[in-house]
Formats: sequence, C-alpha cells, structure tokens
Amino acid sequence: MDILRAILFILPAYFANATPVIFGGGAPVDFGKKFSDGRRVLGDGKTWRGLFAGIFFGTLVAVVIGYCIPDVVGYAFFASRLPRTEMGSGIPPLSGESGAVLFGILGFLLSCGAMFGDLLGSFVKRRMGAAPGQPSFALDQLMFLVFAVAFAWPLRAVGLDEFVFLVVLTYALHVLMNLLANRLGLKKVPW
Ligand code: CTP
Ligand code: MG
Repeated sequence: MDILRAILFILPAYFANATPVIFGGGAPVDFGKKFSDGRRVLGDGKTWRGLFAGIFFGTLVAVVIGYCIPDVVGYAFFASRLPRTEMGSGIPPLSGESGAVLFGILGFLLSCGAMFGDLLGSFVKRRMGAAPGQPSFALDQLMFLVFAVAFAWPLRAVGLDEFVFLVVLTYALHVLMNLLANRLGLKKVPW
C-alpha cells in the first residue's frame, strides 16, 4: 500500500463530507417529512444545498488534483485495476487534461458515495432516536467512508490494508478536528 496515494484517493470524499457544513442550509432533503415511526426521515441537518455543495466541491477538488499531478493520480487511478506485472511499466503517462477527467470522474463517484453514506447514516440515526448533531462515530464517519469507497469501486478497488488505513486516518482526523474546534471555541466539548 502507498500511503500518499491512499490519502490522495480519499481526499475528494473528505471535501465532500466537510463542505456541507459551510454551504448547507435551506430546504431539507426529506422536505420535513416524517417516517412511519413518527420521527423525521433524515432531519434538518441534511439539506439539498449541502448535498449539492458536497458533490460539487468533492468533484472540483478531484479535477484540480488530477490536472496538477496527473502522473501521480494516473498511477493511483489505474494501479488496483491493472495486472500486478504491468504496474509501473505499462502505464501510459497522463496529460493534465486526461488526469482532470479521470480523477474528476473518480472524485464524482467518491463524493456521491460520501453523500449517500451521510444520508443513510442520518436515516439510521433517526430510526435509533438520535437527535440531529448527536455524535456517533460509526454512523457519522464510517458510513460516508464505506460508501465513498463502494461507489468508486468500479474505477479503483481498495485493498484491505488500504481500507483499514483509511478508517484509522478518518478516525484520527475526526478526533483531531474536534479537538481543534473545541480549542478554537467552535465546539463546547472536545469530542
Ligand atoms: N449539512 C447540510 N446538508 C447535508 C449535510 C450536512 O446542510 N447534506 C450541514 C448541516 O448544517 C448540518 C451540518 O452540515 O447540521 C453538519 O453535518 P452532519 O454532522 O452530517 O449533520 P448533523 O447536523 O450532525 O445531523 P445528523 O445527526 O443527521 O448527522
Ligand atoms: Mg454530525
């Protein structure tokens, strides 16, 4: 596993997951509707604007990365879909434009998966009776990661070692970000 390329691969999903916090608001995805259990389907924390912002910025980041370092992401992009013997030798160099298109498509899939996982996480949280904003690492942080990886699977398979690394990285970033938000006074508690 290549740590740098694993991080590059998941970066668009992180952006997709983070931007709704900044750009979200307005009409909720569930339009305020309640599920058969009487609770909201998704809750006010999931908005259309946040959803589209996540997909847009996740894809945009991927396009920029693909354009700037096509040789690096070109390899990352193909590596898991090439026979092992061809790795490193049979890969044609990518131009900035094709890097932008290829990594952009990957970024779009990652972002759609991240947003889908995020919605599904909220759906499960509401069924469990958790209020919007109530933290749950498994549902908040793992759902988006699992579905981002799953949606991108046709273009880039992820090995078990790489997946475990991404889970650990996501958890570490999650803890670090909450600590930072607490220190900056954006969050009352450091978790
Ligand atoms: N957000 C949004 N649209 C989305 C996802 C997030 O507008 N599709 C915004 C909302 O303002 C939300 C904030 O980003 O409150 C934080 O997102 P998240 O932690 O995913 O939502 P929660 O409010 O914690 O709600 P839930 O318990 O359903 O996860
Ligand atoms: Mg939350």
